[in-house]
Amino acid sequence: MSILITNIKQLLQVHDHNVLVLKGEEMKTLTVLENAYLYIEHDTIIEYGEMVDCEGIEAETVVDATGRIVLPSWCDSHTHIVYAGNRTSEFVDRIKGLSYAEIAERGGGILNSAKVLQETSEADLYDQSMDRLEELIRMGTGAFEIKTGYGLTVDAELKMLRVIKRIKQESLALIKPTLLAAHAIPDDYRDKKEDYIKLITEELIPKAAKLNIAHFIDVFCEKGYFDLKDTEAILKAGKDHNMRPKIHVNQFNILGGVALGVKYNALSVDHLEELNDDDINALKPSSTMPVALPGCSYFLGIPYTPARKLIDAGIPIAIATDYNPGSAPSGNMNFVVGAACIKMKMTPEEAINAATINGAYAMGISNMYGSITRGKKANVIITKPLEHYNEIPYAFAHNPVEQIVINGQLKDIKNPEENFRI
Ligand code: NIG
Ligand code: FE
Repeated sequence: MSILITNIKQLLQVHDHNVLVLKGEEMKTLTVLENAYLYIEHDTIIEYGEMVDCEGIEAETVVDATGRIVLPSWCDSHTHIVYAGNRTSEFVDRIKGLSYAEIAERGGGILNSAKVLQETSEADLYDQSMDRLEELIRMGTGAFEIKTGYGLTVDAELKMLRVIKRIKQESLALIKPTLLAAHAIPDDYRDKKEDYIKLITEELIPKAAKLNIAHFIDVFCEKGYFDLKDTEAILKAGKDHNMRPKIHVNQFNILGGVALGVKYNALSVDHLEELNDDDINALKPSSTMPVALPGCSYFLGIPYTPARKLIDAGIPIAIATDYNPGSAPSGNMNFVVGAACIKMKMTPEEAINAATINGAYAMGISNMYGSITRGKKANVIITKPLEHYNEIPYAFAHNPVEQIVINGQLKDIKNPEENFRI
């Protein structure tokens, strides 16, 4: 199997050397090859260059990309795609004036989703989740992190992990699973949070580790959920079972979770709608990626992560969707790239870097994904006709994608019969 994409107007994120992350100033540059070709064999990027050097290259499939842009597929490093049902009624309650916290206090929020998920069969949960995932593959995402966290019992969390495992085995997209049992305190443990933490650290994490599915451990470190001490206990137990931390911090309140994440060598600290100088100073010397989730800020009407502050301090940043039923019911990375520019004042270059190579870094896969580099996975977007990549964030929430190559397979996203399964 070989694919040659010719006459590419702009080939984005081209790196001869295997870049793993772009920090601060480096994020301002998006490497572009004009009038280019890209050659793929099986699932691997083999060669690229200017059209003048394309002569003599033959392939089984040739795609003429005249007037089109080609870039690495989006890397969405923070999602909760596996959930059951939706929370539309809470959405309407919020429009009428209730806050996210007030809804949670009334037993809504994460506990509401957990109740529905517990009652949903594994097969149905898989079908609902796979439908969401495939809609997003059509919008250009080629790699997803997926969290548990709507189970909140040992059985239901393991059910979520099995569903994520099946998606990982059956989808052409790359999937990185995360255990987020510490997403909320279940009703049965309302007055004995310590027991729930024990259940997670002593029973669930060891059982999950035996299934060998979860790569990462996550905690919702927030007032009313899990404090620093709880978070530390869970990160420790996760690390003992080879799960690297990737944690929810600073969504509504600053508890010190950023520094704790850095201390435990977190791969990423996510949300950061609230951020202070101590957080910046903790991140500066670390290899922890801050991840902003502008879809959540948009949907909940909370502050946007101060991206300029991070970039100006020489720190990298990734952007992701946070796709979930409560705070960000959209997994559209094209919208996220637009919102990062419009609301967080990131330049298109910075936003595209944040959604590709830095997103891949935040999943621990940037050695194989996130840039156009020889030897990397052939996961690319071929856009509709566009004059310039600036049009991607400009036409916010549009789908600029016309075709994709995912795991080396060429797919026409307009074809409803197209299949994204192995
Ligand atoms: O990332 N903050 C915690 N978790 C999700 C929201 C979960 C929910 O409301 O269902 C988030 O925003
Ligand atoms: Fe989240």
